[in-house]
Amino acid sequence: MSAFRPIEWRDAERAVVLIDQRRLPENEVYVIAATWEQVADAIREMVVRGAPAIGISAAYGLAIAALDRAAGAHDVPDLERALEAAFSGLAATRPTAVNLFWALERMRRRLRACEGPPAEAAACLLEEAHAIAAEDVAMCEAMGDLGAALLPEGTRLLTHCNAGGLATGGYGTALGVARSAWKTGRLRHVLADETRPFLQGARLTAWELHREGIPVRVITDNMAGHFMQRGEVDAVVVGADRVAANGDVANKIGTYAVAVLAHAHGLPFYVAAPTSTVDLATPTGAEIPIERRHDREVTHLGDRRLVPAGVAVENPAFDVTPARLVTAIITERGVARPPYADSLAALLRQG
Ligand code: MRU
Repeated sequence: MSAFRPIEWRDAERAVVLIDQRRLPENEVYVIAATWEQVADAIREMVVRGAPAIGISAAYGLAIAALDRAAGAHDVPDLERALEAAFSGLAATRPTAVNLFWALERMRRRLRACEGPPAEAAACLLEEAHAIAAEDVAMCEAMGDLGAALLPEGTRLLTHCNAGGLATGGYGTALGVARSAWKTGRLRHVLADETRPFLQGARLTAWELHREGIPVRVITDNMAGHFMQRGEVDAVVVGADRVAANGDVANKIGTYAVAVLAHAHGLPFYVAAPTSTVDLATPTGAEIPIERRHDREVTHLGDRRLVPAGVAVENPAFDVTPARLVTAIITERGVARPPYADSLAALLRQG
């Protein structure tokens, strides 16, 4: 586990406590979300971000709603009706990370399987949220070990965005691979793309690796090709927000460009993602909804305006890397190789 707790349940406050990722690295402050609406706001405003962390937080949000509504419900179907606003409100926060919908669906299944009174069903939902959080850490550790085994000794690893402890229950997907590789002596250092416009690489990846003593160097996004051309990158590992059935991968905007560069330089391009990020119901990347975020993320850097007032900008938060550019997809159940339609389906059948 990493040395910080990105998402923590507090029984006494019946609330989830989130490290405010908007404030890192300058300030380590925490946001207490005690209603499902506060959890939804925290996801939408990126207090908490990263596909698995969004799913875990949404599960806690739903558990909070159930604990709040249980007293007024006659039975479990009545409680489910009372929770519809929470289900749809949480689902409407961010469209691309499939872990959000996966976690909410899992919570709904658990609710329907509860036979006791509404108060017991609400307690079951809290248990399920705890299980989702704990399983995420175990999955990331397994992925980390499988991914590290793919890397030669002394690897200089390039990553994009933050797919670390902050983006998960605490270990990370792509950074889980880096953590495991560091423990086993295979990692020389991580090159972290700064990841405009929200700077998850510069702010978050650098923060969590540096505080654990894992060597990290931040580069601006337009430097990746330069370092690859000079032979100073051995492999790329990124996370994912959704993997389509054919192996196309949606991840933070800029990932596609890194994959093209890796391909041009003959470097392996690995995606580390738990099976909860694999969406067999989405046939290809073309069907993955891409979130468009506020203009302000592009027009401003903090309070400073970078783009002249009145000039239009674009801000797609994710892009799609076609499966043909992906060397392998590392999941907690094993490493999928092309053709992904077969290998991913086989891994998901194992569950
Ligand atoms: O917009 P964000 O910061 O939520 O985007 C996060 C990413 O793109 C991550 O790479 C992805 O969610 C994987 S996190 C383990």
